[in-house]
Amino acid sequence: MLTVRLPVLFKILLLALSFLAGVQAAPKRKTGNTATARKTPQQQAAALPQGISQATDGSTILDTTVTVNGAQLRFKISGPADQFTAASNVTGATQQAGAQGALGLNVLLHGDGGQSFFDFPNQAVQGGLMGVVILAPSEQLLWGQRTGNPSGLSRADGVADAQAVNDLIQQVLPQIVAFNTSNVFFTGVSGGSLTLSGFFVPAHLANFAGNGVLLMCGALVPQVPVVNASAFAANTKIHFQSTQDELALLQPAIPAAIVAYETLATDAGLSKQEIGLLQTVDNTPPGGHCEFDGVGFSSGIQLIADNFENIMQGGDGAVDGINAKTVLTSVVGNENLQFAA
Ligand SMILES: *[C@@H]1O[C@H](CO)[C@@H](O)[C@H](O)[C@H]1NC(C)=O
Ligand SMILES: *[C@@H]1O[C@H](CO)[C@@H](O)[C@H](O)[C@H]1NC(C)=O
Ligand SMILES: *[C@@H]1O[C@H](CO)[C@@H](O)[C@H](O)[C@H]1NC(C)=O
Repeated sequence: MLTVRLPVLFKILLLALSFLAGVQAAPKRKTGNTATARKTPQQQAAALPQGISQATDGSTILDTTVTVNGAQLRFKISGPADQFTAASNVTGATQQAGAQGALGLNVLLHGDGGQSFFDFPNQAVQGGLMGVVILAPSEQLLWGQRTGNPSGLSRADGVADAQAVNDLIQQVLPQIVAFNTSNVFFTGVSGGSLTLSGFFVPAHLANFAGNGVLLMCGALVPQVPVVNASAFAANTKIHFQSTQDELALLQPAIPAAIVAYETLATDAGLSKQEIGLLQTVDNTPPGGHCEFDGVGFSSGIQLIADNFENIMQGGDGAVDGINAKTVLTSVVGNENLQFAA
């Protein structure tokens, strides 16, 4: 009996393992077997298990989905177990819903296709900030575009997505984790940066003023009216990070966004010197789109994420792996970024 059953069990185990491996790798695949290819990136992501796991720094990651304004929003949050509420189901949770916590947040919007949601480069608690990544409620996992593909830099659902991000942070996250609501930072990657700078910052940043927005490999001029600019333009840090071989369609878009945001700060009454401390730019790394380490997409994003405190929270902006002495170059006088090609 045993000699018959063992191989069968082994085969079942192998099948189960290969199924799991296929699903895990699926979001990264451009081509796969036909069954995989017929699933949208959103369906492939939905097959990845949610729940509780451990972050690279030993803190707790909760991966869950909620409904916000009718859309399903999946997000991960990484923080010390004792900062979660009972509703999170995290073992060791001690907080009451709505309690203010000691730590702030660094909320990241991934690029097109969702890679940074899966990588979660901002997961380790850094600079007193817990990491949050939100998966775009989109068939192709595009921030600002729920169905189909964007034309050029347009994002047809930028308004709804920006509202969803705002409402998730203000209404849902306080039920799950205790955080300092006056200490919420944002990070964008590529398409996530387009959605932040084009829609979220102009419409909602006044609700999160006084902290900062790190825009990696992408930026847009505000696409909607700027609400209460005077509440955030004079006290909120914005850093634009690009590379020498940035995507051709972003090479003019990033400088245009820089000019627009600089104008908001000028209109808020800041001097050139004051603007230079708040709004900074670097595109010196000799890499392609998001390749800030000159090597790769995910590793480049991880390098900037690992230097978040150093870039965004009062550090000197010297990044080990980027040749420039600091990435914190004032935007004033440097609006017209030069790219390699
Ligand atoms: C906690 O567990 C309950 C019961 O399984 C579930 O309904 C709820 O969604 C979970 N909470 C989170 C934040 O995942
Ligand atoms: C919350 O964050 C704000 C802004 O950084 C800070 O001034 C305040 O001291 C923080 N509160 C707590 C309780 O840490
Ligand atoms: C504008 O910002 C100020 C200061 O933060 C706040 O008191 C006011 O309610 C805001 N107004 C709107 C319309 O958001």
